[in-house]
Amino acid sequence: MGSDIRAVTWTGDGLRLIDQTVLPGRFEHCEVRDTASLVDAIQRLVVRGAPALGVAGAFGVAIAMAEAERKGWGETERDEAIERVRSARPTAVNLAAGVDRVVPLIPKGVDAVIAEAQALLEEDVRGNRAIGCAGADWILARSGDRPLRVLTHCNAGALATAGWGTALGVIRELHERGRLQLVYADETRPLLQGSRLTAWELEQAGIPYRVQVDGAAASTILRGLVDVAVIGADRIAANGDTANKIGSLAVALACADARIPFVVAAPRSTIDFAMPSGDQIPIEERAPGEVLTWSGASIAPDAANAFNPAFDVTPARLVTALVTETGVLEVSAGDTPATHPDPPKPNH
Ligand code: MRU
Repeated sequence: MGSDIRAVTWTGDGLRLIDQTVLPGRFEHCEVRDTASLVDAIQRLVVRGAPALGVAGAFGVAIAMAEAERKGWGETERDEAIERVRSARPTAVNLAAGVDRVVPLIPKGVDAVIAEAQALLEEDVRGNRAIGCAGADWILARSGDRPLRVLTHCNAGALATAGWGTALGVIRELHERGRLQLVYADETRPLLQGSRLTAWELEQAGIPYRVQVDGAAASTILRGLVDVAVIGADRIAANGDTANKIGSLAVALACADARIPFVVAAPRSTIDFAMPSGDQIPIEERAPGEVLTWSGASIAPDAANAFNPAFDVTPARLVTALVTETGVLEVSAGDTPATHPDPPKPNH
């Protein structure tokens, strides 16, 4: 099933989403035909991961247009609904970018919007394949002959994209080339995208892995058990500062201390050239209950409150390489998106 996983599919009158809140126990779809349901699906993480959010946002504009037609909305109500989709989650730049890409086509009609959203979806799958190859080439050029032990954090796989995956695309490619020994999948508190989703994808693909608690990652790296860390991204500032799932920064710090590469794999659409550095990236704070409860039961004193940022920002100096569909930037060495506003030539 590996590469056949499709988190987001257009059905002709709406979106079919793999419900990522119930995996791995159940494989179910969620059908979305109105913007309120789409906003809810995005905020509950039924659909999640920056590139998948971009595709869902683009199709969300078509959903808003059809809903406006059905409900007799004027342009103002339709545009307000589009804005609610666009801002349903703040950190991943791809969501707003997906919406913004198709909005100019509204005057041409819903079919033009759907065609552009579909083009975005197909570009993402193609781009992920290219990211996988470029990332594997870069990593293998810097490692010896022995099979690699790779650490990843959160889920940057097919479920988080239109297909194949970014960080998991690199891992899939290493596996296909027979160069992968083991993946350490950080469980990713509090919503467990690593243990529920990454482990599920690795299982489907027959890739050997071990799930570890997030708190184990630094020790696993400093004990010499990891050759390279590969993660995805939600927004990359022009200077290379990278927002990704909370806990990514701790992995990057450990990699720097252990002198192993910390690799970010993401499509160029995740680069926000309008944002000079990472301190301006909006960081989503989610409900305290995600931290304070487990399967509905309280795991902290009743009066406890929680700090629940969903993302952190890894400074560019800790990002060894940024792999996009157009090639690799060696960010900590000064090769940042700002120095490459035009795509570098693929180096594979
Ligand atoms: O909160 P999530 O599950 O949407 O967070 C997802 C991540 O942080 C991913 O690593 C990122 O979006 C890259 S997905 C290719």
